[in-house]
Amino acid sequence: MDSQIVAFCLLAMTCIQAMAFEPSPLQDFCVADYTSSARVNGLACMDSKLVQAEHFTYSGLHLSGNTSNPLGFSVTPVTVAQLPGLNTLGIALVRFDYAPWGVAPLHVHPRATEIITVLEGSIQVGFVTSNPDNKLISKVLQKGDVFIFPMGLVHFQRNVGNGNAVSISAVSSQNPGIVIVASSVFGSVPGIDDDVLAKAFQVDKSTIDNLKAQF
Ligand SMILES: *[C@@H]1O[C@H](CO)[C@@H](O)[C@H](O)[C@H]1NC(C)=O
Repeated sequence: MDSQIVAFCLLAMTCIQAMAFEPSPLQDFCVADYTSSARVNGLACMDSKLVQAEHFTYSGLHLSGNTSNPLGFSVTPVTVAQLPGLNTLGIALVRFDYAPWGVAPLHVHPRATEIITVLEGSIQVGFVTSNPDNKLISKVLQKGDVFIFPMGLVHFQRNVGNGNAVSISAVSSQNPGIVIVASSVFGSVPGIDDDVLAKAFQVDKSTIDNLKAQF
């Protein structure tokens, strides 16, 4: 290959990599204008002359969430939906509260890697690598420990102590998204045909109906 072609290929690869997610910012910020009807990949920017400190401020992450639910778990997100100044910046924060033995059920963030740290309690974390290995990478974290859930992999958290637990995560998207495995598979609207699920999970249809009934 001549050197020009090599140079072009390298440039193209760099461009593709750079374009895989949000392009680099071309301005200081793009505070989300929730009222704009413009359809873009993300949210439209408000007039920068109207931007104030409040658009970059969220208060309340010190407050515990309500874990009185069957999972014993609560999420307090600070994503672009709560904090408009995060728009286009590719980062967000989330607080998790866990009752004793509470569980953050198996889920995936389609647009973000997550880095988690424990503020209180002992939390078991785990993610599963992709096919064909499907290897569970899991650990019990103590206060101050940090763990990573790589982008797009199924993961969970569980409070393995008899007291409440608290953790904070940073995620690499202002809108990380969440796909909860159980609700996607058994709680979709309309439901996935029993036959598809029975074959996928290699169980009979009554087991599938039982699982679907939970949603
Ligand atoms: C917590 O959630 C439960 C169940 O939804 C509700 O009954 C209870 O009032 C909530 N507690 C607080 C302090 O909001």
